Amino acid sequence: MPHYLGIDVGTSAVKAILVDERQTTIAEADASLQVSRPQNLWSEQDPEAWWQAVQASLDQLHAKDAAALADVRAVGLSGQMHGAVLLDAANRPLRPAILWNDGRSFKEAQELATEHPNLARDMGVLPMPGFTAPKLVWLARHEPETFRTVRKVILPKDYIRLKLTGAIVTEMSDAAGTWWLDEAKRDWSNEALAATGLTRDHMAGLVEGSQASGTVRPTIARQWNMRSDVVVAGGAGDAAAGAVGLGAIRDGAAFISLGTSGQLLVTTENYSPAPEALVHSFCHALPGRWFQMAAMLNGASCLAWAATLLKRDIGDLLRETEAAYRRPSGVLFLPYLAGERTPHNDPHARGVFFGLSPDTQQTDVAQAVLEGVAYSFADAKQALEQAGTPLTQAGIIGGGSKSQFWTKIFASVLNIPIVRYQGSDKGPAFGAARLARLAVTGEAPEEVCTAPAILETIGPDPRLVELYQPRIQAFRSLYRALKPEFARS
Ligand code: XUL
Repeated sequence: MPHYLGIDVGTSAVKAILVDERQTTIAEADASLQVSRPQNLWSEQDPEAWWQAVQASLDQLHAKDAAALADVRAVGLSGQMHGAVLLDAANRPLRPAILWNDGRSFKEAQELATEHPNLARDMGVLPMPGFTAPKLVWLARHEPETFRTVRKVILPKDYIRLKLTGAIVTEMSDAAGTWWLDEAKRDWSNEALAATGLTRDHMAGLVEGSQASGTVRPTIARQWNMRSDVVVAGGAGDAAAGAVGLGAIRDGAAFISLGTSGQLLVTTENYSPAPEALVHSFCHALPGRWFQMAAMLNGASCLAWAATLLKRDIGDLLRETEAAYRRPSGVLFLPYLAGERTPHNDPHARGVFFGLSPDTQQTDVAQAVLEGVAYSFADAKQALEQAGTPLTQAGIIGGGSKSQFWTKIFASVLNIPIVRYQGSDKGPAFGAARLARLAVTGEAPEEVCTAPAILETIGPDPRLVELYQPRIQAFRSLYRALKPEFARS
Protein backbone atom coordinates (compact mmCIF):
# COMPACT_ATOMS: atom_id res chain seq x y z
CA MET A 1 0.00 0.00 0.00
CA PRO A 2 1.45 3.48 -0.85
CA HIS A 3 2.85 5.42 2.07
CA TYR A 4 3.95 9.05 2.35
CA LEU A 5 6.68 10.59 4.44
CA GLY A 6 6.58 14.08 5.97
CA ILE A 7 9.73 15.64 7.41
CA ASP A 8 9.60 18.88 9.38
CA VAL A 9 12.92 20.63 9.98
CA GLY A 10 11.94 22.59 13.10
CA THR A 11 14.08 24.71 15.37
CA SER A 12 14.05 22.51 18.45
CA ALA A 13 13.70 19.19 16.60
CA VAL A 14 13.33 17.40 13.29
CA LYS A 15 10.05 15.48 13.22
CA ALA A 16 9.26 12.77 10.69
CA ILE A 17 5.97 11.01 10.16
CA LEU A 18 4.92 8.05 8.00
CA VAL A 19 1.29 7.96 6.88
CA ASP A 20 -0.61 5.40 4.87
CA GLU A 21 -3.20 5.83 2.13
CA ARG A 22 -5.97 6.29 4.69
CA GLN A 23 -3.91 9.11 6.23
CA THR A 24 -3.35 7.08 9.36
CA THR A 25 -0.07 7.78 11.11
CA ILE A 26 1.98 4.59 10.97
CA ALA A 27 5.16 5.74 12.70
CA GLU A 28 6.72 8.91 14.06
CA ALA A 29 10.26 9.90 14.86
CA ASP A 30 12.10 12.92 16.14
CA ALA A 31 15.61 14.09 16.83
CA SER A 32 16.32 17.22 18.85
CA LEU A 33 18.32 20.24 17.70
CA GLN A 34 20.22 22.95 19.56
CA VAL A 35 20.31 26.65 18.75
CA SER A 36 23.55 28.55 19.09
CA ARG A 37 23.51 32.20 20.20
CA PRO A 38 27.14 33.32 19.89
CA GLN A 39 26.27 37.02 20.26
CA ASN A 40 23.39 39.13 21.49
CA LEU A 41 20.54 39.00 18.90
CA TRP A 42 22.18 36.11 17.00
CA SER A 43 20.51 32.73 16.47
CA GLU A 44 22.22 30.09 14.34
CA GLN A 45 22.22 26.40 13.48
CA ASP A 46 24.59 24.27 11.47
CA PRO A 47 22.78 22.91 8.36
CA GLU A 48 24.68 19.64 8.80
CA ALA A 49 22.98 19.21 12.21
CA TRP A 50 19.61 19.27 10.39
CA TRP A 51 20.79 16.59 8.00
CA GLN A 52 22.10 14.44 10.85
CA ALA A 53 18.77 14.81 12.66
CA VAL A 54 16.88 13.86 9.49
CA GLN A 55 19.08 10.76 9.11
CA ALA A 56 18.53 9.85 12.78
CA SER A 57 14.76 10.22 12.25
CA LEU A 58 14.87 7.98 9.16
CA ASP A 59 16.86 5.40 11.17
CA GLN A 60 14.11 5.46 13.80
CA LEU A 61 11.35 5.06 11.20
CA HIS A 62 13.28 2.21 9.61
CA ALA A 63 13.56 0.50 13.00
CA LYS A 64 9.84 1.03 13.68
CA ASP A 65 8.38 0.00 10.32
CA ALA A 66 10.85 -0.86 7.55
CA ALA A 67 8.05 -2.23 5.35
CA ALA A 68 6.08 1.04 5.39
CA LEU A 69 9.25 3.01 4.66
CA ALA A 70 9.97 0.71 1.73
CA ASP A 71 6.52 1.59 0.37
CA VAL A 72 6.96 5.35 0.51
CA ARG A 73 6.05 6.94 -2.86
CA ALA A 74 6.77 10.55 -1.98
CA VAL A 75 8.40 12.73 0.65
CA GLY A 76 7.16 16.18 1.69
CA LEU A 77 9.41 18.68 3.41
CA SER A 78 8.38 21.34 5.89
CA GLY A 79 10.60 23.60 7.94
CA GLN A 80 11.37 26.66 9.97
CA MET A 81 11.02 29.64 7.66
CA HIS A 82 13.22 32.63 6.80
CA GLY A 83 16.63 31.06 7.63
CA ALA A 84 19.59 32.01 5.43
CA VAL A 85 21.55 28.95 4.30
CA LEU A 86 24.50 30.25 2.30
CA LEU A 87 26.04 27.86 -0.21
CA ASP A 88 29.35 28.07 -2.11
CA ALA A 89 29.91 26.94 -5.70
CA ALA A 90 30.16 23.31 -4.51
CA ASN A 91 26.83 23.65 -2.64
CA ARG A 92 28.55 23.54 0.75
CA PRO A 93 27.34 25.82 3.59
CA LEU A 94 29.69 28.78 3.97
CA ARG A 95 28.77 29.50 7.59
CA PRO A 96 26.11 28.49 10.12
CA ALA A 97 22.57 29.29 8.98
CA ILE A 98 21.11 32.55 10.32
CA LEU A 99 17.66 31.70 11.70
CA TRP A 100 14.16 33.21 11.71
CA ASN A 101 14.57 34.49 15.29
CA ASP A 102 17.91 36.22 14.66
CA GLY A 103 17.69 40.00 15.13
CA ARG A 104 21.15 41.12 14.02
CA SER A 105 20.00 42.72 10.76
CA PHE A 106 17.65 45.25 12.37
CA LYS A 107 19.48 48.25 10.84
CA GLU A 108 19.51 46.67 7.39
CA ALA A 109 15.77 45.84 7.63
CA GLN A 110 15.03 49.44 8.59
CA GLU A 111 17.11 50.72 5.66
CA LEU A 112 15.30 48.45 3.20
CA ALA A 113 11.99 49.78 4.53
CA THR A 114 13.10 53.39 4.13
CA GLU A 115 14.81 53.02 0.76
CA HIS A 116 12.19 50.77 -0.85
CA PRO A 117 8.86 51.81 0.67
CA ASN A 118 6.86 50.38 -2.24
CA LEU A 119 8.26 46.87 -2.04
CA ALA A 120 6.49 45.82 1.19
CA ARG A 121 3.14 45.50 -0.57
CA ASP A 122 4.61 43.18 -3.22
CA MET A 123 6.74 41.17 -0.73
CA GLY A 124 3.71 40.73 1.56
CA VAL A 125 5.24 42.27 4.66
CA LEU A 126 7.53 45.02 5.92
CA PRO A 127 11.19 44.00 5.88
CA MET A 128 11.95 42.71 9.40
CA PRO A 129 15.26 41.38 10.74
CA GLY A 130 14.15 37.73 10.84
CA PHE A 131 13.63 37.60 7.07
CA THR A 132 16.29 36.34 4.69
CA ALA A 133 16.81 39.48 2.58
CA PRO A 134 18.03 41.87 5.31
CA LYS A 135 20.39 39.15 6.56
CA LEU A 136 22.18 39.20 3.21
CA VAL A 137 22.63 42.98 3.44
CA TRP A 138 24.11 42.40 6.92
CA LEU A 139 26.41 39.73 5.49
CA ALA A 140 27.64 42.00 2.68
CA ARG A 141 28.53 44.58 5.30
CA HIS A 142 29.96 42.45 8.10
CA GLU A 143 31.31 39.36 6.34
CA PRO A 144 32.04 40.69 2.83
CA GLU A 145 34.31 37.79 1.87
CA THR A 146 31.61 35.26 2.64
CA PHE A 147 29.06 37.39 0.78
CA ARG A 148 31.26 37.40 -2.34
CA THR A 149 31.53 33.60 -2.24
CA VAL A 150 27.78 33.00 -1.89
CA ARG A 151 26.43 31.22 -4.99
CA LYS A 152 23.00 30.24 -3.67
CA VAL A 153 20.85 31.32 -0.75
CA ILE A 154 18.41 28.61 0.27
CA LEU A 155 15.98 27.91 3.12
CA PRO A 156 16.46 25.32 5.89
CA LYS A 157 14.19 22.56 4.56
CA ASP A 158 15.62 23.08 1.06
CA TYR A 159 19.04 22.09 2.38
CA ILE A 160 17.49 18.71 3.18
CA ARG A 161 16.03 18.60 -0.34
CA LEU A 162 19.53 19.26 -1.68
CA LYS A 163 20.85 16.33 0.38
CA LEU A 164 18.00 14.04 -0.66
CA THR A 165 17.76 14.90 -4.37
CA GLY A 166 20.72 17.06 -5.38
CA ALA A 167 18.27 19.72 -6.61
CA ILE A 168 18.27 23.37 -5.54
CA VAL A 169 14.56 24.05 -5.48
CA THR A 170 12.16 25.77 -3.12
CA GLU A 171 8.41 26.30 -3.16
CA MET A 172 6.16 29.34 -2.88
CA SER A 173 5.19 29.32 0.80
CA ASP A 174 8.79 29.29 2.08
CA ALA A 175 10.11 31.55 -0.69
CA ALA A 176 7.32 33.89 0.50
CA GLY A 177 9.19 34.50 3.77
CA THR A 178 12.48 35.59 2.19
CA TRP A 179 11.27 39.10 1.24
CA TRP A 180 12.43 38.37 -2.30
CA LEU A 181 9.19 36.85 -3.62
CA ASP A 182 6.55 38.83 -5.45
CA GLU A 183 3.62 37.21 -3.64
CA ALA A 184 0.95 38.06 -6.20
CA LYS A 185 3.04 36.88 -9.17
CA ARG A 186 4.46 33.86 -7.31
CA ASP A 187 7.89 34.64 -8.76
CA TRP A 188 11.17 36.11 -7.53
CA SER A 189 11.27 39.90 -7.59
CA ASN A 190 14.21 41.31 -9.56
CA GLU A 191 13.73 44.60 -7.76
CA ALA A 192 13.89 43.14 -4.22
CA LEU A 193 16.88 40.99 -5.18
CA ALA A 194 18.71 44.00 -6.62
CA ALA A 195 17.96 45.93 -3.40
CA THR A 196 20.09 43.37 -1.54
CA GLY A 197 22.87 43.00 -4.13
CA LEU A 198 21.64 39.65 -5.49
CA THR A 199 20.16 38.28 -8.72
CA ARG A 200 17.88 35.40 -9.70
CA ASP A 201 20.96 33.23 -10.12
CA HIS A 202 21.36 33.23 -6.34
CA MET A 203 17.86 31.82 -5.90
CA ALA A 204 16.51 28.27 -5.99
CA GLY A 205 14.09 27.10 -8.68
CA LEU A 206 10.43 27.56 -7.74
CA VAL A 207 7.64 24.97 -7.64
CA GLU A 208 4.27 24.86 -5.89
CA GLY A 209 4.19 22.91 -2.61
CA SER A 210 2.10 20.16 -4.13
CA GLN A 211 4.36 19.72 -7.17
CA ALA A 212 7.33 17.37 -7.56
CA SER A 213 10.77 18.95 -7.08
CA GLY A 214 12.96 15.90 -7.76
CA THR A 215 13.52 12.27 -6.77
CA VAL A 216 15.49 10.77 -3.90
CA ARG A 217 19.03 9.89 -5.00
CA PRO A 218 19.70 6.14 -5.31
CA THR A 219 22.50 6.19 -2.69
CA ILE A 220 20.13 7.75 -0.16
CA ALA A 221 17.19 5.50 -1.07
CA ARG A 222 19.35 2.38 -0.60
CA GLN A 223 20.44 3.53 2.87
CA TRP A 224 16.89 3.00 4.21
CA ASN A 225 15.83 0.40 1.69
CA MET A 226 13.44 2.79 -0.05
CA ARG A 227 12.15 2.59 -3.62
CA SER A 228 14.24 4.04 -6.43
CA ASP A 229 11.50 6.41 -7.67
CA VAL A 230 10.55 8.31 -4.50
CA VAL A 231 9.37 11.81 -5.42
CA VAL A 232 10.21 14.80 -3.22
CA ALA A 233 7.36 17.32 -3.27
CA GLY A 234 7.85 21.06 -2.94
CA GLY A 235 6.44 20.93 0.59
CA ALA A 236 5.97 24.13 2.60
CA GLY A 237 7.26 26.50 5.24
CA ASP A 238 6.08 25.27 8.63
CA ALA A 239 3.21 27.79 8.83
CA ALA A 240 1.66 26.73 5.50
CA ALA A 241 2.44 23.05 6.14
CA GLY A 242 0.59 23.30 9.47
CA ALA A 243 -2.37 24.80 7.60
CA VAL A 244 -2.37 21.93 5.09
CA GLY A 245 -2.17 19.41 7.96
CA LEU A 246 -5.20 20.99 9.56
CA GLY A 247 -7.17 21.27 6.33
CA ALA A 248 -7.05 25.10 6.55
CA ILE A 249 -6.98 25.58 2.79
CA ARG A 250 -10.28 27.43 2.25
CA ASP A 251 -10.85 31.16 2.50
CA GLY A 252 -11.28 32.23 6.14
CA ALA A 253 -9.99 29.03 7.80
CA ALA A 254 -8.02 30.19 10.87
CA PHE A 255 -5.72 28.59 13.39
CA ILE A 256 -3.26 29.23 16.18
CA SER A 257 0.09 27.50 15.96
CA LEU A 258 1.70 27.15 19.38
CA GLY A 259 5.10 25.63 18.71
CA THR A 260 8.54 27.09 19.48
CA SER A 261 7.21 30.24 17.84
CA GLY A 262 3.56 31.29 17.59
CA GLN A 263 1.38 32.13 14.63
CA LEU A 264 -2.19 33.16 14.01
CA LEU A 265 -2.92 32.25 10.40
CA VAL A 266 -5.93 32.75 8.14
CA THR A 267 -6.12 31.30 4.64
CA THR A 268 -7.23 33.74 1.91
CA GLU A 269 -8.34 33.07 -1.66
CA ASN A 270 -6.80 36.37 -2.77
CA TYR A 271 -3.50 38.03 -2.06
CA SER A 272 -4.32 40.58 0.68
CA PRO A 273 -1.26 42.55 1.78
CA ALA A 274 -1.46 44.58 5.02
CA PRO A 275 2.16 45.51 5.79
CA GLU A 276 1.15 48.48 7.97
CA ALA A 277 -0.42 46.01 10.48
CA LEU A 278 2.85 43.98 10.49
CA VAL A 279 0.81 41.09 9.15
CA HIS A 280 2.57 38.66 6.79
CA SER A 281 0.61 38.03 3.56
CA PHE A 282 2.29 35.04 1.98
CA CYS A 283 1.72 32.45 -0.75
CA HIS A 284 0.09 29.26 0.52
CA ALA A 285 1.48 25.83 -0.29
CA LEU A 286 -1.26 25.19 -2.86
CA PRO A 287 -1.56 27.07 -6.16
CA GLY A 288 -3.87 30.10 -6.25
CA ARG A 289 -4.06 30.45 -2.46
CA TRP A 290 -2.46 32.80 0.06
CA PHE A 291 -2.64 33.41 3.79
CA GLN A 292 -2.42 36.26 6.25
CA MET A 293 -0.38 35.58 9.35
CA ALA A 294 0.56 37.34 12.56
CA ALA A 295 3.93 35.83 13.49
CA MET A 296 5.19 35.84 17.07
CA LEU A 297 8.71 34.74 17.94
CA ASN A 298 7.87 33.29 21.37
CA GLY A 299 5.34 30.49 21.72
CA ALA A 300 5.47 27.26 23.71
CA SER A 301 9.22 27.88 23.98
CA CYS A 302 8.38 30.30 26.83
CA LEU A 303 6.86 27.48 28.87
CA ALA A 304 9.85 25.23 28.17
CA TRP A 305 12.15 28.06 29.21
CA ALA A 306 10.21 28.68 32.47
CA ALA A 307 10.13 24.96 33.35
CA THR A 308 13.89 24.69 32.82
CA LEU A 309 14.49 27.78 34.93
CA LEU A 310 12.25 26.48 37.74
CA LYS A 311 13.80 23.01 37.35
CA ARG A 312 10.34 21.51 36.88
CA ASP A 313 8.85 18.96 34.53
CA ILE A 314 6.48 20.80 32.13
CA GLY A 315 3.61 18.35 32.73
CA ASP A 316 3.86 18.62 36.54
CA LEU A 317 4.11 22.41 36.38
CA LEU A 318 1.03 22.61 34.15
CA ARG A 319 -0.98 20.29 36.43
CA GLU A 320 -0.11 22.29 39.57
CA THR A 321 -0.78 25.60 37.85
CA GLU A 322 -4.17 24.39 36.66
CA ALA A 323 -5.06 23.13 40.17
CA ALA A 324 -4.15 26.54 41.65
CA TYR A 325 -5.90 28.58 38.90
CA ARG A 326 -8.77 30.83 40.03
CA ARG A 327 -8.54 34.02 37.95
CA PRO A 328 -5.98 35.95 35.84
CA SER A 329 -2.60 36.03 37.54
CA GLY A 330 -1.52 39.19 39.33
CA VAL A 331 1.85 38.72 37.65
CA LEU A 332 2.27 39.89 34.05
CA PHE A 333 4.79 38.30 31.71
CA LEU A 334 6.00 39.92 28.50
CA PRO A 335 7.02 36.86 26.45
CA TYR A 336 9.52 38.64 24.19
CA LEU A 337 12.50 36.42 25.06
CA ALA A 338 13.70 36.49 21.44
CA GLY A 339 12.31 39.93 20.56
CA GLU A 340 9.02 40.21 18.70
CA ARG A 341 7.75 40.48 15.13
CA THR A 342 3.94 41.03 15.01
CA PRO A 343 2.84 43.56 16.24
CA HIS A 344 6.03 45.28 17.42
CA ASN A 345 8.82 44.60 14.89
CA ASP A 346 11.19 44.93 17.87
CA PRO A 347 14.24 42.65 18.00
CA HIS A 348 15.40 44.44 21.16
CA ALA A 349 12.32 43.57 23.25
CA ARG A 350 12.96 41.04 26.03
CA GLY A 351 11.03 38.97 28.55
CA VAL A 352 9.70 40.73 31.66
CA PHE A 353 7.92 39.65 34.85
CA PHE A 354 5.89 42.44 36.43
CA GLY A 355 3.90 42.49 39.66
CA LEU A 356 5.92 40.05 41.78
CA SER A 357 5.20 40.14 45.53
CA PRO A 358 6.32 38.20 48.62
CA ASP A 359 3.26 35.97 48.03
CA THR A 360 4.14 35.06 44.44
CA GLN A 361 4.26 31.28 44.03
CA GLN A 362 5.82 29.15 41.30
CA THR A 363 2.34 28.54 39.92
CA ASP A 364 1.65 32.31 39.66
CA VAL A 365 4.80 32.66 37.60
CA ALA A 366 3.90 29.68 35.40
CA GLN A 367 0.36 31.01 34.92
CA ALA A 368 1.78 34.42 33.99
CA VAL A 369 3.89 32.73 31.31
CA LEU A 370 0.88 30.91 29.84
CA GLU A 371 -1.16 34.11 29.93
CA GLY A 372 1.63 36.32 28.54
CA VAL A 373 1.85 34.13 25.44
CA ALA A 374 -1.97 34.23 25.12
CA TYR A 375 -1.94 38.04 25.46
CA SER A 376 0.54 38.26 22.61
CA PHE A 377 -2.04 36.34 20.54
CA ALA A 378 -4.66 38.96 21.54
CA ASP A 379 -2.32 41.45 19.85
CA ALA A 380 -2.09 39.09 16.86
CA LYS A 381 -5.88 38.93 16.62
CA GLN A 382 -6.02 42.71 16.70
CA ALA A 383 -3.39 42.94 13.94
CA LEU A 384 -5.47 40.63 11.73
CA GLU A 385 -8.56 42.73 12.46
CA GLN A 386 -6.61 45.80 11.30
CA ALA A 387 -5.73 43.83 8.17
CA GLY A 388 -9.45 43.36 7.52
CA THR A 389 -9.69 39.80 8.83
CA PRO A 390 -11.73 39.48 12.03
CA LEU A 391 -11.73 36.04 13.66
CA THR A 392 -14.75 34.22 15.02
CA GLN A 393 -13.16 30.81 15.69
CA ALA A 394 -9.75 29.17 15.36
CA GLY A 395 -8.14 25.73 15.49
CA ILE A 396 -5.01 25.15 17.54
CA ILE A 397 -1.92 23.10 16.63
CA GLY A 398 1.66 22.68 17.82
CA GLY A 399 3.14 21.34 21.06
CA GLY A 400 1.20 23.85 23.20
CA SER A 401 -2.12 22.56 21.82
CA LYS A 402 -1.63 19.37 23.85
CA SER A 403 -2.59 21.37 26.94
CA GLN A 404 -6.34 21.73 27.40
CA PHE A 405 -5.67 24.18 30.24
CA TRP A 406 -3.59 26.52 28.06
CA THR A 407 -6.23 26.30 25.30
CA LYS A 408 -8.90 27.35 27.84
CA ILE A 409 -6.83 30.42 28.71
CA PHE A 410 -6.50 31.22 24.98
CA ALA A 411 -10.27 30.91 24.43
CA SER A 412 -11.07 33.41 27.21
CA VAL A 413 -8.23 35.80 26.35
CA LEU A 414 -9.15 35.86 22.63
CA ASN A 415 -12.88 35.56 23.36
CA ILE A 416 -13.45 33.01 20.57
CA PRO A 417 -14.07 29.24 20.55
CA ILE A 418 -10.93 27.20 19.93
CA VAL A 419 -10.91 23.75 18.38
CA ARG A 420 -8.44 21.06 19.47
CA TYR A 421 -7.72 18.22 17.03
CA GLN A 422 -6.31 14.74 17.29
CA GLY A 423 -2.59 14.51 16.50
CA SER A 424 -2.31 18.29 16.22
CA ASP A 425 1.22 18.44 17.63
CA LYS A 426 2.58 16.83 14.44
CA GLY A 427 0.85 19.40 12.18
CA PRO A 428 3.60 20.57 9.80
CA ALA A 429 5.11 17.09 9.24
CA PHE A 430 1.61 15.73 8.59
CA GLY A 431 0.87 18.60 6.19
CA ALA A 432 4.13 17.87 4.38
CA ALA A 433 3.11 14.21 3.98
CA ARG A 434 -0.16 15.41 2.42
CA LEU A 435 1.72 17.61 -0.06
CA ALA A 436 3.89 14.58 -0.91
CA ARG A 437 0.76 12.60 -1.70
CA LEU A 438 -0.69 15.39 -3.88
CA ALA A 439 2.57 15.54 -5.85
CA VAL A 440 2.23 11.93 -7.00
CA THR A 441 -1.51 11.27 -7.10
CA GLY A 442 -2.73 14.55 -8.61
CA GLU A 443 -5.85 14.31 -6.38
CA ALA A 444 -7.90 17.44 -5.65
CA PRO A 445 -6.44 19.20 -2.56
CA GLU A 446 -9.93 19.39 -0.98
CA GLU A 447 -10.15 15.58 -0.99
CA VAL A 448 -6.85 15.06 0.80
CA CYS A 449 -6.55 18.17 2.99
CA THR A 450 -9.54 17.58 5.24
CA ALA A 451 -9.73 18.60 8.90
CA PRO A 452 -8.54 15.94 11.38
CA ALA A 453 -10.94 14.51 13.96
CA ILE A 454 -11.99 17.14 16.50
CA LEU A 455 -11.05 16.40 20.11
CA GLU A 456 -13.10 19.22 21.57
CA THR A 457 -14.17 22.83 21.05
CA ILE A 458 -13.41 25.08 23.99
CA GLY A 459 -15.56 28.18 24.29
CA PRO A 460 -14.63 31.37 26.16
CA ASP A 461 -15.78 31.58 29.80
CA PRO A 462 -17.74 34.89 30.08
CA ARG A 463 -16.50 35.53 33.65
CA LEU A 464 -12.88 35.13 32.58
CA VAL A 465 -13.34 37.10 29.35
CA GLU A 466 -14.32 40.09 31.49
CA LEU A 467 -11.47 39.60 33.95
CA TYR A 468 -8.92 39.22 31.15
CA GLN A 469 -9.80 42.46 29.30
CA PRO A 470 -8.04 44.86 31.76
CA ARG A 471 -5.08 42.47 32.00
CA ILE A 472 -4.61 42.61 28.21
CA GLN A 473 -4.66 46.41 28.42
CA ALA A 474 -2.07 46.32 31.24
CA PHE A 475 0.08 43.95 29.15
CA ARG A 476 -0.01 46.40 26.25
CA SER A 477 0.82 49.44 28.33
CA LEU A 478 3.68 47.60 30.05
CA TYR A 479 5.30 46.98 26.65
CA ARG A 480 4.71 50.61 25.60
CA ALA A 481 6.32 51.84 28.82
CA LEU A 482 9.35 49.58 28.44
CA LYS A 483 9.95 49.96 24.70
CA PRO A 484 12.44 52.84 25.10
CA GLU A 485 14.33 50.82 27.75
CA PHE A 486 14.57 47.80 25.43
CA ALA A 487 16.02 50.03 22.73
CA ARG A 488 18.58 51.46 25.18
CA SER A 489 19.84 48.21 26.70
C1 XUL B 1 7.07 32.33 10.80
C2 XUL B 1 8.27 32.09 11.65
C3 XUL B 1 8.38 30.85 12.43
C4 XUL B 1 9.41 29.94 11.83
C5 XUL B 1 9.86 28.87 12.79
O1 XUL B 1 7.07 33.58 10.20
O2 XUL B 1 9.17 32.87 11.71
O3 XUL B 1 7.22 30.20 12.55
O4 XUL B 1 8.88 29.43 10.65
O5 XUL B 1 8.92 27.99 13.15
